[in-house]
Amino acid sequence: LRRLLGALIEEMYYLRRRGRVVLVQPLIAALPYGTMVRLRTSLYRLAGVRIGTGSAIVGPLRIWGPAQLTIGANSTINGPCAICLDGPVTLHDGVLIGHDVIISTGSHEIGPSHARGGHVVPRPVVIGAGAWVGAGAMILPGVTVGAGSVVAAGAVVVHDVSPNTIAAGVPARTVRHLNDSGEHLTKDGEQDIEVP
Ligand SMILES: CC(C)(COP(=O)(O)OP(=O)(O)OC[C@H]1O[C@@H](n2cnc3c(N)ncnc32)[C@H](O)[C@@H]1OP(=O)(O)O)[C@@H](O)C(=O)NCCC(=O)NCCS
Repeated sequence: LRRLLGALIEEMYYLRRRGRVVLVQPLIAALPYGTMVRLRTSLYRLAGVRIGTGSAIVGPLRIWGPAQLTIGANSTINGPCAICLDGPVTLHDGVLIGHDVIISTGSHEIGPSHARGGHVVPRPVVIGAGAWVGAGAMILPGVTVGAGSVVAAGAVVVHDVSPNTIAAGVPARTVRHLNDSGEHLTKDGEQDIEVP
């Protein structure tokens, strides 16, 4: 009986940590992908995610600790996506997140050889206003993706991405600078000059 009680207390601890999202997750899972976007978005609000007006969550999110997630106005998240909320994640206004993106805020201290994954080290992630994170990209703990930038599909972002740039590859590096209207500049941010 003592063991059963211990297991129950442990489960209650994890249920508390995951917050209200455990209650809405089964409902959200039942919603067909790409439909009932308003309902899905409202359910995430109910779970405790702060979501600005005009934002839409198009598919399911794998999240825990919903109070740590803040989404600005007019942003779109094309789930399924995994957002690990050991630390805070802030998406500013006008952000677009592609499907199958992973955002991670939790790393571990590297422990001794018998248990390398030591204590959790939470670090925040910020996605700046107007940024687009392409499908399958992975944003690692502590990264800020600058406003107006693009993270290419499949990129693994280990360092901050400068505003108004395209970052691509593994690890992600700046491949282009962008001007306000979305035209490419060169890698150094200079305007391409047409050679006659
Ligand atoms: C990043 C992206 C927008 C760039 O597209 P673009 O503006 O047409 O730019 P280009 O194709 O000219 O690419 C610019 C450079 O980045 C490289 N690049 C582009 N996408 C890349 C990627 N996913 N991984 C690695 N390198 C990439 C190109 O090879 C090129 O490099 P080069 O100068 O050495 O030739 C596009 O490649 C991309 O990843 N789109 C995401 C699509 C997606 O996720 N859709 C889901 C809907 S949200």
